[in-house]
Amino acid sequence: MFLLLVFLVAVLPVNTEGGEIIWGTESKPHSRPYMAYIKFYDSELVRKKCGGFLVGEDIVMTAAHCYGSGTNVTLGAHNIQDRKNTQVIRVRKYKRHEDFNSETLVNDIMILKLVHKAQLNSVVKTIALPKAHDWVKPGQVCTVAGWGTLPNCTSPNTLQEVNLEVQSSQKCFDRSKSYNDSIQLCVGNPNERKATSNGDSGGPLVCNGVAHGIVSYHFCPWTPPRVFTRISSFIPWIQKTMKLLKQP
Ligand SMILES: *[C@@H]1O[C@H](CO)[C@@H](O)[C@H](O)[C@H]1NC(C)=O
Ligand SMILES: *[C@@H]1O[C@H](CO)[C@@H](O)[C@H](O)[C@H]1NC(C)=O
Ligand SMILES: *[C@@H]1O[C@H](CO)[C@@H](O)[C@H](O)[C@H]1NC(C)=O
Repeated sequence: MFLLLVFLVAVLPVNTEGGEIIWGTESKPHSRPYMAYIKFYDSELVRKKCGGFLVGEDIVMTAAHCYGSGTNVTLGAHNIQDRKNTQVIRVRKYKRHEDFNSETLVNDIMILKLVHKAQLNSVVKTIALPKAHDWVKPGQVCTVAGWGTLPNCTSPNTLQEVNLEVQSSQKCFDRSKSYNDSIQLCVGNPNERKATSNGDSGGPLVCNGVAHGIVSYHFCPWTPPRVFTRISSFIPWIQKTMKLLKQP
């Protein structure tokens, strides 16, 4: 098994060969007002968390493997314990990609429709999606953020972020033959000690203010690069799905 599902966490508490890993840093509070903190129950009714991002007033995008029941989305958070300014909204409907494969994790994209619209303000805002075939190129540096577990296995209360470099498809294909560059992004320089983000699954990879990727999975061993869903390849699906979710 080459692929390891990244659930709550971007990182696992395993030893590294490459010496010290430099992790992310705390985000400037509310500098990423599109970030969503998602809680849900998995099929065993265990409470899990994921990241996500607001793309419409009542629409949140995340990874398909963040699917569950009783899902709630928290918007406007920095310190997740601090409820001031936050909006916690339940999910009314969701749509996972029809061709999501839970083994290979291809098409790891899901759209949630909230029970009501979020109130947009200085700490809650939507983020733009790319145009179809707007291709992120190797070498480009993008940012990912999340509330995932830290290297010392504690959960941060505050949003953390890290910059990661987009890699050539070969770097991921070398790790797993199921990597598909036309629908996925290979992210994280294997030569940088800044190995990976501590972002949750489902969180956005943001390049020049646009959400280009969704945190999907890492390889085993978990040294970078890692795999993100390439959003620009799903624009027709996203448009069709949003239309569908608009219906009452
Ligand atoms: C979501 O919120 C509802 C209503 O407050 C609650 O019953 C449910 O347990 C919450 N779900 C999770 C995963 O925490
Ligand atoms: C874990 O690491 C974080 C970030 O470096 C630090 O703030 C926190 O105090 C650490 N927690 C423990 C229990 O070591
Ligand atoms: C990569 O994904 C595209 C789009 O889903 C698909 O048409 C193509 O067959 C896939 N390539 C491989 C090698 O699986």
